[in-house]
Amino acid sequence: VRYPSWPERRAVSDRYYARNPERFLGEPSDFFAWSGPYVATVRPPLEVLELGSGPGRDARGFARTGARVRAVDHSPIAIARGRAWPDAPASLRYEEANLIDALIATASGRVGVVYAHMVYMILSDPEADRVAREVHRVLRPGGLHLFAVRSTSDPVAQEGVQVAPDVRVRPPESEPIRYYRRGTLDRFTRAGFERVAAEESVSAHVWYVCDRRP
Ligand SMILES: C[S@@+](CC[C@H](N)C(=O)[O-])C[C@H]1O[C@@H](n2cnc3c(N)ncnc32)[C@H](O)[C@@H]1O
Repeated sequence: VRYPSWPERRAVSDRYYARNPERFLGEPSDFFAWSGPYVATVRPPLEVLELGSGPGRDARGFARTGARVRAVDHSPIAIARGRAWPDAPASLRYEEANLIDALIATASGRVGVVYAHMVYMILSDPEADRVAREVHRVLRPGGLHLFAVRSTSDPVAQEGVQVAPDVRVRPPESEPIRYYRRGTLDRFTRAGFERVAAEESVSAHVWYVCDRRP
């Protein structure tokens, strides 16, 4: 499978935000609510690293609970919208960066929660493995990796052109998207995580996952 360069993939995100001025603003996602009881098990003070935050609806939710939050997104449009949102909590910082670069720049063993809602579908398998290893490195023992990814049960997983099993390109974009099933979700635990929960939201066709660094 050929994945476009990172600048090309960032341009895909920017085009999306340019076309959809209201997307991912407003109240936190359902996955944020699902994550709450797991996040409550992490010892405070809580530092959250959100990858692919968009304009930060969930990042603001975390910040309102008193967490220190780094919201990382590679789209300058998304980051500008997040920064422009009124009443920005002081404990929330936005970073315009590729999520892999942001992980690499993060010190080891300090972060309580790494959180990614509907982002990892754009990663190639080697990139997903790298992300899992880096997330494991930056988390402190007992820290959580919370992520949501689209399921193969989603009707859109039948659209476009299949370029590998469960990987599809939907024109006009050239970006391959991976849809996950329980078996392929397991690759995220290989870096040394314990799986706490992996639940499919049947109505939304999305996997909700919580992994813990022992
Ligand atoms: C489907 S949106 C979800 C936004 C946000 N998590 C939410 O639920 O409100 C996916 C986000 O991931 C960002 N993204 C995709 N690939 C990225 C990468 N390599 N580095 C940083 N951000 C990325 C996109 O710009 C987009 O904002």
